[in-house]
Amino acid sequence: MKVIYADNNATTQVAPEVLEEMVPYFHDLYGNPSSMHSFGGQVAGRLKEARERVARLIGATPDEILFTSCGTESDNTAIRAAIASHPEKKHIVTTRVEHPAVKNLCEHLGRHGYRVTFLPVDRHGRLDLEHLRKVLSSDTCIVSIMWANNETGVIFPIKEIAQMVRERGSVFHTDAVQAVGKIPIDMGQIPVDMLSLSGHKLHAPKGIGALYVRKGTKFSPFLIGGHQEGGRRGGTENVASIIGLGKACELVLEHLGDENERVKSLRDKLENGILKGIPSAMVNGDREHRLPNTTSISFEYVEGEAILLMMNEFGICASSGSACTSGSLEPSHVLRAMGVPFTAAHGSIRFSLSIYNKEEEIDFIIEKLPPIIERLRELSPFWGESKTATIVCS
Ligand SMILES: Cc1ncc(COP(=O)(O)O)c(C=O)c1O
Repeated sequence: MKVIYADNNATTQVAPEVLEEMVPYFHDLYGNPSSMHSFGGQVAGRLKEARERVARLIGATPDEILFTSCGTESDNTAIRAAIASHPEKKHIVTTRVEHPAVKNLCEHLGRHGYRVTFLPVDRHGRLDLEHLRKVLSSDTCIVSIMWANNETGVIFPIKEIAQMVRERGSVFHTDAVQAVGKIPIDMGQIPVDMLSLSGHKLHAPKGIGALYVRKGTKFSPFLIGGHQEGGRRGGTENVASIIGLGKACELVLEHLGDENERVKSLRDKLENGILKGIPSAMVNGDREHRLPNTTSISFEYVEGEAILLMMNEFGICASSGSACTSGSLEPSHVLRAMGVPFTAAHGSIRFSLSIYNKEEEIDFIIEKLPPIIERLRELSPFWGESKTATIVCS
């Protein structure tokens, strides 16, 4: 069966051009970049090039890029580096809608001597910047706020946030794992101190990430070991994946204009087709300030997991906004923080597209989804009673 892959915020296909550049580093060019001999030395040259390519994508300089194993490691490194470098400060600010890589670490730190402020969002997933201004103090060590939300695609105003945090003298980190490659990012224009990105969200392999650390930012390594990455992250480099990440960054930089516009028009077609064909469906999150590839749609009175299973029968891959925890289906913390009604949060599906999606795939989803929802609603004990209910659309 053909796979219709609409789950690119979960992970992406490795681009063929990326794979091609990586392959020689598994067999012919397997030297260690730290070796003194030229066999290893030639690999070091390719690492340098990869660092330059990553830096170019986000308007940084190569020495500000630190390779890590994933977005989660980048997030952990940034937050831990900030608190280790400013031991006198005990306050951390983040939001209620962060990825678990930030959310769970901050909760952990909250149990270990830190005071953590989790900023709320409104019904559209937006932050109140005045609220942020009020909670910042001389005790605030780090503010960690994502650039774009992985579930709804909502983009936060990172420039204003970064400026505000800088004025107050705290470190600003942004988890840009979902934003990099989808929207333009320029560290020359925005005073972010640290930024996380992850390879597998932008057509590089899984298991490679990077952390941007602005020159002059106080830093303390998370992985202590050898001298790799200028002593900022010990461990022999994941050479092939770093080279793959470099190539992927070069490719997405080329796609930031036209290709991402095409992805956006596919996303809009999908969203409009679904909203037109299915009653009581609503988009979650601020539709104006959103990633071009993402839509989160709630279908009242049905279970997201049931929708996913039925779409799976047709080869359609997407995600639900619920997480199955210890046997009970809990709606996602993001939708809960936005105040999405329980009946809608349970039936939410995230579609996330990439440059590899085709128009006929969108048509296929638009055709197959309405009968799936109709069938599930026929089985729902609540649907019949609710047919006349008014849904508040965002
Ligand atoms: C916003 C965000 N941050 C961090 C991560 C974690 O990245 P990784 O899977 O590379 O650890 C993800 C992955 O889904 C994400 O969406």
